[in-house]
Amino acid sequence: MVTSNRSRVVVVGTGSVGAAVASAIVQQGLCNELVLVNHHPEKAEGLAMDLADGSEFLGRFVTIRAGGWEDCRRADVVVVAAGPKPKPGETRMQELGAAIDIVDPILRHIRDSGFDGILIMVSNPVDVLSWFAWRRTGLPRAQVFGSGAALDTSRMKTIIGETTRLDPRLVSGYVVGEHGDSQFVPWSTVSFIGKSFAQYLEDNRLRYPGVTLAGIEEETRRRGLDIKGLRGGTSYGIAATVAGLVRMILWNERGVVSVSTLIDGEYEYGEHDVFLSLPVALDGDGVGDFVDLHLSDEELAKFHRSAAVVRDHCRLIADRL
Ligand SMILES: NC(=O)c1ccc[n+]([C@@H]2O[C@H](COP(=O)([O-])OP(=O)(O)OC[C@H]3O[C@@H](n4cnc5c(N)ncnc54)[C@H](O)[C@@H]3O)[C@@H](O)[C@H]2O)c1
Repeated sequence: MVTSNRSRVVVVGTGSVGAAVASAIVQQGLCNELVLVNHHPEKAEGLAMDLADGSEFLGRFVTIRAGGWEDCRRADVVVVAAGPKPKPGETRMQELGAAIDIVDPILRHIRDSGFDGILIMVSNPVDVLSWFAWRRTGLPRAQVFGSGAALDTSRMKTIIGETTRLDPRLVSGYVVGEHGDSQFVPWSTVSFIGKSFAQYLEDNRLRYPGVTLAGIEEETRRRGLDIKGLRGGTSYGIAATVAGLVRMILWNERGVVSVSTLIDGEYEYGEHDVFLSLPVALDGDGVGDFVDLHLSDEELAKFHRSAAVVRDHCRLIADRL
């Protein structure tokens, strides 16, 4: 359980994503102390100074500094956002070879520090690397998860909000499976202003010509690639997402979010030893109860397809363990 009198977050990797995550955490005043770690220490130092320079105008004072692996020992949350710079057109799975060479040594350092908090994997391919992080660190399953489809879920809500010109936060529901091409939306979980979103769309067919569930799902899946094509990479959406996850942990909120977690025989999902996103309760103890989504046979088949993709890629790096 996280204690409110000492909340330390360590962000490893201070590139586009790590810097945006750090900024979101500071802007929202989520912790007492933020420590930045980078293999080029001067980059972490510069970012810490830059972020700290806004202190007078922040809602809450946060100690911000550069640090090292020893700082993980007493950290409540460690966020891993180091990796190869994603290339436009490259899929997340194609990043695996370069990513594991960067992330494995980082995980060894985190483990060797004596870290016993909650590790959030952000580096891609996030499902594969979350599984690897769980195995490499030996931490309990509740304490290791990936940001996974939490971002895709937010994207799906954003697209529905943009389509309907209503607040995206009115949408309840989840994207599940791989954070990647095989992710999917079990539409039976998606509700909007008191009814299922499918029903809402049906009731307002004339208002939204051409809008379909399949279209929204595909746009959700593609959105990361589209942003990469437009501005070279994504950072602010994932940063807001990760800050939200950190808040649920440090403030012990017990939200329910679709994050990449160990699936080990829960409900009808019928999968073991694989990390995929499903809605789970999240609080100061990490990942808690699962939600039984009662997936249809067709949705279960999609879930198993996601599991196969992730498992195949885990096999490629399993011999490192
Ligand atoms: N999960 C998600 O939804 C999501 C979204 C966006 C990006 N990402 C992932 O986040 C990661 C970072 O992306 P980015 O855009 O910030 O890239 P970036 O190139 O801007 O930053 C990469 C960071 O990794 C560090 N790094 C590189 N090589 C290293 C090494 N050998 N040892 C230690 N640190 C090293 C760099 O110093 C830098 O801080 C990538 O894996 C990317 O795929 C994930």
